[in-house]
Amino acid sequence: MFVSAIVLAAGKGERFKLRVPKPLVRINSKPAVLYSLVTLSSIPSVRDIIVVVNSRTRTGIEKAIRKYNIRKVKRIVSGGRMRQDSVRCGLQALDKKSDLVLIHDGARPFIEKKAIVLLLREAGRTGAAILGVPVKATIKEAISRQLSAVSRLFVKRTLNRSALWEIQTPQAFKRSLIVRAHERYAGCEVTDDAMLVEKLGVRVSIVMGAYTNIKITTPEDLVLAEAIARKFKTGSSN
Ligand code: CTP
Ligand code: MG
Repeated sequence: MFVSAIVLAAGKGERFKLRVPKPLVRINSKPAVLYSLVTLSSIPSVRDIIVVVNSRTRTGIEKAIRKYNIRKVKRIVSGGRMRQDSVRCGLQALDKKSDLVLIHDGARPFIEKKAIVLLLREAGRTGAAILGVPVKATIKEAISRQLSAVSRLFVKRTLNRSALWEIQTPQAFKRSLIVRAHERYAGCEVTDDAMLVEKLGVRVSIVMGAYTNIKITTPEDLVLAEAIARKFKTGSSN
């Protein structure tokens, strides 16, 4: 099986607010994106990695890849305005030999090799597989209502938690399927790649991920990331 990985690092990081771009922020003195590049590189079926960058991240990422000698990174390409535009830029740079494409957010450092191997196996069988964890919180749908001069927020309904999963990356797909989904639904607003495949009517498998596979989104996520990085270093998580 020939797997190509696309690692996204072309976002603006608007919710992160710090000056340093998210993929380059240091976690225990290593750039965040390096963690997932190292883990993906350690998986034999992952033959090449395409990193998608923007003008703020390109130089720093090129330097880090050289410094840490990540040899499976074969191409570094520029991304687009929305996340799915960046994915499309990565898909256009794919090696035509690849059977499966694994798509990953560079802002999620702590992926685990064993979960990725299971994810790839499942995607090989079904065509589409994503990582997720059962939701721990009570999730309510809210609705805002204008009452006299003020707008107030109310509960519309409570969702059935036992059926809810929080979805993560990596997500893995047969190459022809994900290329077709991105071409067909190019203008749609989505928050992950599986949504496009779901629109095609294809069933997507969920594979158990880990609660430590956090995405760095806001500054407080860094506190958690430092702690998880220490756990990873002692070998208890990877
Ligand atoms: N991403 C990308 N290209 C974009 C938007 C996002 O490559 N146009 C990448 C980000 O770099 C990140 C991943 O997609 O690794 C997940 O996106 P998110 O966490 O939303 O990151 P940002 O879009 O950078 O952050 P924000 O939404 O707060 O601006
Ligand atoms: Mg974003």
